[in-house]
Amino acid sequence: MRVLVTGGAGFIGSAVVRRLRSQQAADVVNVDRLTYAGNPDSLPGLSADDGYCFEQVDIRDSHELERVFREHRPDAVMHLAAESHVDRSILGPEVFVDTNVLGTQRLLEVARAYWQELDSRPLADARNGCSAREQFRFHHISTDEVFGDLPPNAPAFVETTPYAPSSPYAASKAASDHLVRAWHRTYGLPVVLSNCSNNYGPYQFPEKLIPLMILNALAGKPLPVYGDGGQIRDWLHVEDHAEALWTVLQCGTVGETYNIGGNAERTNLQVIETICATLADLRPASPLEPSDAAKKPGLCPDAHSGGRVFAPGAYRDLITFVADRPGHDRRYAIDSTRITTELGWRPAHGFEAGLRETVAWYLDNTEWVARVQSGAYREWIAENYSGRADASL
Ligand code: NAD
Ligand code: DAU
Repeated sequence: MRVLVTGGAGFIGSAVVRRLRSQQAADVVNVDRLTYAGNPDSLPGLSADDGYCFEQVDIRDSHELERVFREHRPDAVMHLAAESHVDRSILGPEVFVDTNVLGTQRLLEVARAYWQELDSRPLADARNGCSAREQFRFHHISTDEVFGDLPPNAPAFVETTPYAPSSPYAASKAASDHLVRAWHRTYGLPVVLSNCSNNYGPYQFPEKLIPLMILNALAGKPLPVYGDGGQIRDWLHVEDHAEALWTVLQCGTVGETYNIGGNAERTNLQVIETICATLADLRPASPLEPSDAAKKPGLCPDAHSGGRVFAPGAYRDLITFVADRPGHDRRYAIDSTRITTELGWRPAHGFEAGLRETVAWYLDNTEWVARVQSGAYREWIAENYSGRADASL
């Protein structure tokens, strides 16, 4: 089987590619534009792998997509390429509509034309007597954010929860989900969809909550908590998500959607405090003096304190309440009953153990971290955080 993975150099896409290649489950064609979030360093060892091929292509470029489908003849598509960061969508929504909506529509059209040309005669080696056309799948990977803000005691999102996206990012993903369903209903394209909760784990770009907090804490920088930090997310380890996606692709019913979650609702403050406690345990010597922590240097990145001595507990002192995210959803929670009961998937990682392993990964992979914290990263940190006054001062 050959799978065309879009966004395979990103956080979740690279976990999918590593999963498929490490267990030789399928050959992979990775189609990625390599935006700021795409990173070939997240795919170590794959350049020498005969079952792996990289195509630096923008999903909005129909001609290039046609060439890739023609040359590689995939049996399935796993579509992860997207602009994925909510804060970036608030400061610059256009690229989100462009990539997530228009890009998905272009990919759907190229996939449809390719699928319609596939052989409809039974494959010689198919146990179920299926043709290449019947076996083809387009798996659209989406988010729980399409369902919007969940009240505190409301039951978790199910597959039929109405869409109510809050941010430009969530609205663009909701639009892309609708396009995928429309391509199934109108043209018969054999699609499956999945909507997942917040992922964490190795190789996540440090604009997102967990890696940002780990790396800021290590550098003695403030840990910027939006609003009161009482917002709730349902955390899932990225390797569990990759396993779930492969399960949905292989076993999911055409035209159907599967919710994927970690059954691990935590407030942001709980997550940050766990990170601080884990760091105090794994890295009791930080470059920060307690007095520096108390001073809470500005939110911009270069307030570095330079290799001095640390007092246990000082990581927590870096927690700094800042202006909230506009339109901030208070709670997400996923009901994974369907994928669990129908497809037999369940998460293998508990949240606290998975988070500890993730903190350790960032401590051990300083080269990867140094490379992604480039000039462009520093510009983003300045843009997103310099306008948020420290609410505790
Ligand atoms: P990411 O930002 O880490 O990676 C996105 C990848 O897409 C990058 O490699 C980037 O280079 C590529 N890309 C962006 N625009 C492109 C374009 N025009 N053409 C080709 N490639 C392009 O994102 P992620 O966190 O890995 O998320 C992957 C997918 O999963 C997204 O669709 C996202 O909506 C969804 N999702 C993410 C989470 C999460 O917690 N991160 C949860 C649920 C669903
Ligand atoms: O729910 C799935 C979604 O999870 C995915 O679709 C998105 O692609 C992914 O980015 C993620 O969205 P969130 O907005 O929930 O993730 P983020 O890591 O940006 O923020 C998590 C929570 O932490 C959120 O409530 C905002 C808060 N936060 C975030 C940052 C970056 C802070 O308090 N401070 C911060 O500096």
